[in-house]
Amino acid sequence: MSDIESSLHETRVFNPPVAFSKHANIPSMAAYNAMCAAAEQDYAGYWAKLARDMVQWHKPFSKVLDESNAPFYKWFEDGELNVSYNCLDKHLATQANKTALIFEADDGKVTKVTYQELHTRVCQFANGLKARGIKQGDRVIIYMPMSIEAVVAMQSCARIGAIHSVVFGGFSSKSLHERITDAHAVAVITADAQMRGGKVMPLKPAVDEALSFGACERVHSVIVYQRAGCDTAWDAKNNIWWHDLVAGQSNTCEPTWVGAEHPLFILYTSGSTGKPKGVQHSSGGYLLGAMTSMQWVFDYKATDIFWCTADVGWITGHSYVAYGPLAMGGTQVIFEGVPTYPDAGRFWKMIQDHKVTTFYTAPTAIRSLIKLGGDLPKQYDLSSLRLLGSVGEPINPEAWMWYYNTVGGARCPIVDTWWQTETGCHMIAPLPGAMPLKPGTCTLPLPGIMAAIANEAGDLVNDTHGGFLVITHPFPSQIRTIWNDPERYKSSYFPAEMQGAYLAGDSARRDEDGYFWIMGRIDDVLNVSGHRLGTMEIESALVANPLVAEAAVVGKPHDIKGEAVVAFVVLKGALPTDAAKARELADMLRNWVGKEIGPIAKPDEIRFGENLPKTRSGKIMRRLLRGLAKGEEITQDISTLENPAILEQLKNAVR
Ligand code: WTA
Repeated sequence: MSDIESSLHETRVFNPPVAFSKHANIPSMAAYNAMCAAAEQDYAGYWAKLARDMVQWHKPFSKVLDESNAPFYKWFEDGELNVSYNCLDKHLATQANKTALIFEADDGKVTKVTYQELHTRVCQFANGLKARGIKQGDRVIIYMPMSIEAVVAMQSCARIGAIHSVVFGGFSSKSLHERITDAHAVAVITADAQMRGGKVMPLKPAVDEALSFGACERVHSVIVYQRAGCDTAWDAKNNIWWHDLVAGQSNTCEPTWVGAEHPLFILYTSGSTGKPKGVQHSSGGYLLGAMTSMQWVFDYKATDIFWCTADVGWITGHSYVAYGPLAMGGTQVIFEGVPTYPDAGRFWKMIQDHKVTTFYTAPTAIRSLIKLGGDLPKQYDLSSLRLLGSVGEPINPEAWMWYYNTVGGARCPIVDTWWQTETGCHMIAPLPGAMPLKPGTCTLPLPGIMAAIANEAGDLVNDTHGGFLVITHPFPSQIRTIWNDPERYKSSYFPAEMQGAYLAGDSARRDEDGYFWIMGRIDDVLNVSGHRLGTMEIESALVANPLVAEAAVVGKPHDIKGEAVVAFVVLKGALPTDAAKARELADMLRNWVGKEIGPIAKPDEIRFGENLPKTRSGKIMRRLLRGLAKGEEITQDISTLENPAILEQLKNAVR
């Protein structure tokens, strides 16, 4: 929390540069306020107009918002569209030869794809999917490296009305299996391997392993993009190479027109229980949110070279790689590799080489690049940049200032965008031509987004002490349900005490200007390097190990990752006798978690104890564990603690 505390004292204000505002899509606070007023006056009319202006409808909608079965809201329900049509076909008449994607591979090789070429690739692959019997409503898992093909796979599913669920390539076979079975997927699209930092990292073996865990009978096709050309085990029964699938396919494919509420995708994310939630998004409302935020927050211009560094495995890579930039007809950079290979100047070199105008990344990347070479950006020509963005966690003012001065040359506004997998697009973020910026705050809600702060009783509060961040009105891009679990959707996001508002799961406060300062999660979700990790998920993974009796996982502040994972573990057998044994055991368990969930979830620290601090009713006292993890003296009330001696033991545990 030290970052957040320091941001509480932040007083610097950066007004939008005059030259920026002059050409901005929303050029002033007056323009912003007018939009907010329009949304206040006629909420449905406001969104309906945007939906008509921005989205191309095959069949226009007549209904705007249906709240009759709240919180299962429906937007533009009787309208019909196709998202891939809106991202590709729509542009062919006017800019078929404009570059859509600039792909830079791990080894630096660059491939450019025009809108016409991307359209052709998507049509051929979509026809290939159809040839495998994949049809509207089927679920397709995508487990791919960052690549042109990943975007083609997502767009192709959208084209035929299949529902994709992208699984981040860093997740393990176990996590992949959980998602395949929960979604009842019929196909998996993957690659032989991914290339990162000069290394070949196989992907297909994890798919094979996931399918071998059982209950995957529905999967009739595993489509494999040959990226690395490495040896690949093959099951001729249902494996097919990508290049064989598209060979001979027609380069046109009539889009499947779907209702606006047709699910475009499911994306799994962590919550408060051990089981990830399949966040289900719509087609029409989601597309609208991706487009309005491109227009307002990224101030999209036809001449922009846009680069969002997120992987397509996360929501950011959905809204600001696979869909938003294409729907706007933009040119974007897609990067296969890692920011530190061949050295920590890679991002800056790529900005220079591709003349990137709009750069969107995560605070954790910024912090690690400061550490690895705070002066490196100065060796590159970054003058093409006009706008910078940040996402995933609060950006601490120190990182903000470095980003602003060293990367942006004190010339580019920074949009600190607060949003979530569930919201589909930016919710609270600066409009860079309008809003004065303060380092560390995501500023004000987008026009039409009714964000507020509520107390525990669900009453809206206006003081500056903070409370629960809520959105009081349904909005087009929001989650529609949790796949297969509507009850969990209701209880997670619309608990009764919040009086119908959407509960985001973050705490926040507002300052005297009404700016929102995000303070962190209120649930058992950690934010490690901008990735959401459920503490319960990691705990279940740990206790699945035969040596572990019990585990509790908490976060502690980390200067690069934002938060680090600390696990307190009780073994079934005796405590490790010395430091070397403890380390050996901890390493084994870290790797175990890597296999159960994925390397991103490996605890940074594991402490062994004979027990965990518990109340007399057996509840683990996590706040004490958080204190221990941070190395704080325990000054809190421990009168309800059943076994006080355990604190001393855990404090001194070898690690
Ligand atoms: C956090 C990522 C502060 C927050 C798009 C949220 C942020 C969670 C910001 C969602 C930000 C995201 N400032 N916190 N600009 N952006 N968060 O679903 O806790 O991976 O609830 O979506 O990240 O993470 P998710």
